[in-house]
Amino acid sequence: MAAVLGWALIALALVSGVFLLWSASIGAGWQPTSRRKVRKMLEMCDAGPSDVVYDLGSGDGRIIVEAAKTYHARAVGVEADPIRVLLSRFAVGVHRLKGQVRVVWGNFFHVDLSEATVVTLFLSKGANRRLKAKLLSELKPGARVVSYVWTFDDWSPTSRDSKDEISLYVVPGRDLPSPHAAGETADPRPA
Ligand SMILES: C[S@@+](CC[C@H](N)C(=O)[O-])C[C@H]1O[C@@H](n2cnc3c(N)ncnc32)[C@H](O)[C@@H]1O
Repeated sequence: MAAVLGWALIALALVSGVFLLWSASIGAGWQPTSRRKVRKMLEMCDAGPSDVVYDLGSGDGRIIVEAAKTYHARAVGVEADPIRVLLSRFAVGVHRLKGQVRVVWGNFFHVDLSEATVVTLFLSKGANRRLKAKLLSELKPGARVVSYVWTFDDWSPTSRDSKDEISLYVVPGRDLPSPHAAGETADPRPA
């Protein structure tokens, strides 16, 4: 019996290691944002009941749970690692937020983001670089993107908390020069 349990634990560790490596290779490895910074991110973008908050790479679900529980937003998490998807669905159930929060198992590069009014990120420099055009083309003008630690090339944040390393970006109107237009050098914000 002990041997079976031992092998089961080894198998679980191997599977979880494979998923960790895989998610790191397609975006970022897992590292949770502290609860205080989660609240700060949601406050910086002024999240509220009329928002749909997408956390891309939602990990254990702490951002989506907080967005729904404290800020009364509807929230969607997209997570590649199935073990974290299970953990975050469990957290959603424990907090009785099933009607308000959804966790999608998948690669956020393949998920339609058009309904999001807020997108939260804690990824990597490379993932932000690859996501920028998708965010700018799928999100509506005025949607907010809050990124912890990593910034975007050639897209100036509307505000930044340097101490906590949180940057807020606002998707510009379609009639304004877009930061993914030619040369990627324009600041999309009106003066
Ligand atoms: C640094 S963690 C952040 C977790 C959570 N957002 C937080 O702030 O606590 C990054 C998460 O993104 C997930 N991830 C990385 N690339 C992804 C992708 N392309 N699609 C979905 N999830 C991804 C990882 O599995 C990991 O859980």
